[in-house]
Amino acid sequence: MPSPSPSPSRFSERETEEYYDAEDALYRSFWDAEGSLHWGVFDSPEEPGFDSSISGSNVRDDFLAACSRLNAIMLENSRIDGCARVLDLGCGNGNTATWLCRTTGAHVTGIDLSGVRIDNAIASIGDVPDLAPRLEFHKASATELPFADGAFSHVWSQATIYHIPDKEKTLREAFRVLRPGGVMVFDDLTKPKPDISDEARTFVYDRLLFDTDFSFYSYMDALRETGFKVLEARDLSAHLARSYSCLSQMAATGEDADRRERFSALSDAYLKMVQAVRNDELGWAQYLCVK
Ligand SMILES: C[S@@+](CC[C@H](N)C(=O)[O-])C[C@H]1O[C@@H](n2cnc3c(N)ncnc32)[C@H](O)[C@@H]1O
Repeated sequence: MPSPSPSPSRFSERETEEYYDAEDALYRSFWDAEGSLHWGVFDSPEEPGFDSSISGSNVRDDFLAACSRLNAIMLENSRIDGCARVLDLGCGNGNTATWLCRTTGAHVTGIDLSGVRIDNAIASIGDVPDLAPRLEFHKASATELPFADGAFSHVWSQATIYHIPDKEKTLREAFRVLRPGGVMVFDDLTKPKPDISDEARTFVYDRLLFDTDFSFYSYMDALRETGFKVLEARDLSAHLARSYSCLSQMAATGEDADRRERFSALSDAYLKMVQAVRNDELGWAQYLCVK
């Protein structure tokens, strides 16, 4: 029997902060050595499966190319240019913020709950001194942004809002710091149906310390209630399944012997993510909206 829908606030921001502070090295060791941590949009969402003729490095290359494709799609949608002032909500180690700054000439500010990741992001500015005047990072929560009303032309966010217990407050804060006509572009996990299996609860929601009330459609209602006009919505769930299929293979080939047991558990958990997408227990969407 499916369990009753749990409260979306079962996890605290503190737990999320501690999780991301502790796990940066683990994720760099198999997901992306550069420290970015999101999913990808593939040429075809069809899953590659576990074909032993596909080498681990090909899977990784395909996956990282798909992650870059998500960046490119979001950039094209949002039309960020050199005049933009962009806020990256949940910027992690600052990879995409730095890429956005370099690619567009925009002024980019990244915020993240994890002090470890923000320290990494700040340190990485030293590698790109030419960008330093237009790139800044601050430790802050997306639910309490330390910025004035209307401070930004764009809010950008990848793979972050699902973690935040108070998602409505996050959307209100994003709306507040955008100037009139400002654009929010983001991707997030969704829950296509409210009742999920115990397996999905344990290996998907609890493992990632999240829950959400938002389906692909009700997310748009919440955005509209906040005051946004929704310009575009894409259901990327099939690409999430393929992302986790790749990640399962990448974790299984992790070479760090000390962590082999952990990698093996992760690889199995990622297959459960694939299954949860197939069962309509987990989804992934990207939205473009305007204030
Ligand atoms: C899956 S990672 C994605 C990081 C980055 N956007 C990327 O694409 O690499 C999720 C990030 O959300 C951050 N996060 C979670 N809750 C947050 C909150 N309330 N405010 C700001 N950042 C938060 C975490 O610390 C973590 O860095």
